[in-house]
Amino acid sequence: GLPIPTLLNDTGLVTVDPGFMNTASCSSEITYIDGDNGILRYRGYPIEQLAQQSTFLEVAHLLIHGELPNADQLASLNNRVSRHMHLHEGMKAFLNAFPRDAHPMAVLSGALSALSTFYPESVGRGDYEIELATVQLLAKTATVISYLQRRGRGGDLIEPRRGGHYVDEFLRIAFSDGSGEVDIDPEVRRAVDLLLILHADHEQNCSTSTVRIVGSSQANIYASVAAGVTALSGPLHGGANEAALRMFDQIKESGDTVEQFVAKVKDKAEGARLMGFGHRVYKSYDPRGAVVKGVADTVLEKLGGDNQTFDMAKRLEEIALSDEYFIERKLYPNVDFYTGLLYSAIGFPHTMFTPLFALGRMPGWIAHYREMMHDPRTKIGRPRQIYTGVVERDYVPMEDRE
Ligand code: ACO
Repeated sequence: GLPIPTLLNDTGLVTVDPGFMNTASCSSEITYIDGDNGILRYRGYPIEQLAQQSTFLEVAHLLIHGELPNADQLASLNNRVSRHMHLHEGMKAFLNAFPRDAHPMAVLSGALSALSTFYPESVGRGDYEIELATVQLLAKTATVISYLQRRGRGGDLIEPRRGGHYVDEFLRIAFSDGSGEVDIDPEVRRAVDLLLILHADHEQNCSTSTVRIVGSSQANIYASVAAGVTALSGPLHGGANEAALRMFDQIKESGDTVEQFVAKVKDKAEGARLMGFGHRVYKSYDPRGAVVKGVADTVLEKLGGDNQTFDMAKRLEEIALSDEYFIERKLYPNVDFYTGLLYSAIGFPHTMFTPLFALGRMPGWIAHYREMMHDPRTKIGRPRQIYTGVVERDYVPMEDRE
């Protein structure tokens, strides 16, 4: 290929690395990934153990504070989050102003940024402000997303209750009828907890890098995570869970066989990709995808989910994993391939899948923002470029232009 253009300046050698394939932007103690061997650990703990034994708020504490909480610390976090789940009336008016069918990712990023204006006491870079904002964000992101689910179904907003389990309260607000009550199947509650844990951090992915780069300008944490939400919305990142389910639907509607669809992907016809497949770092099975696939059978069985689509997805995986195109490129299912099927079975529409990812990723974004703020080596993120345009020319008056 072409030689990589370089530039020598007063800070040394500048290299061009599109997509940051080989450039580390920071060092971090939060999450470890070994992409060749399909290993993911939060603060040293294997994702499989956390998924099986932990709860989302425990994992949030682990990511943000570096250690699993003891019973008192967990109870305290639960209480503080529970106390902050209510929203200011102005925030409710803000959410109610959007069309009911507005894409919830667009509303969510606006809402997270707007939160800072209603809770100014939590805006700032001091330890007190950041700790308060941490609790506000964990709490109110759950309320905003459950409100958006409620509004999408035509319901009015109901008040969060204090003292409940985080996931129970999230599901109660999202799914209860006018009485405010809902029966939550323990299997559903566990599945949601598990999905949130699996999404909680993934080191320097597109949205987390965005949170860091926005935060590096000393923008507040609300603005930084709101930017993370917009980065997450794209179909090559968090939007892939929604895109994967739409892809399954399209295959069914088109009448193509799974084999015919895979052939189109390989031809790169109209840029089609197998959504929920491939990853920048994993060159083997995404360990999160393996956990989701493992629980999907039981949960779909229990909830009476769409087994036909699940069977189709498994068949797609089987064909792709035995095909040279996918083998050569080391393309495996990622976390987004099967999650949509579970969210759907629980009762979430396609558009809510990526907001659920955002809810899960919130502790990771917060942990990275805090880690960056405490790192004395942090500098404003400002990549260089190699200019390839016209060197210099004189202004051309309008009458002389062609
Ligand atoms: N389907 C078909 N072909 C693919 C796929 C796919 N899902 N992913 C990559 N490829 C091919 C590319 O066409 C390319 O082929 P080539 O060498 O013939 O040009 C090769 O594999 C390498 O792909 P890149 O795009 O260079 O890989 P990159 O690391 O830049 O992209 C990404 C990673 C964006 C995840 C990509 O695999 C993709 O688009 N996947 C589908 C979207 C998706 O599932 N995203 C979720 C990622 S996980 C997450 O964010 C939670």
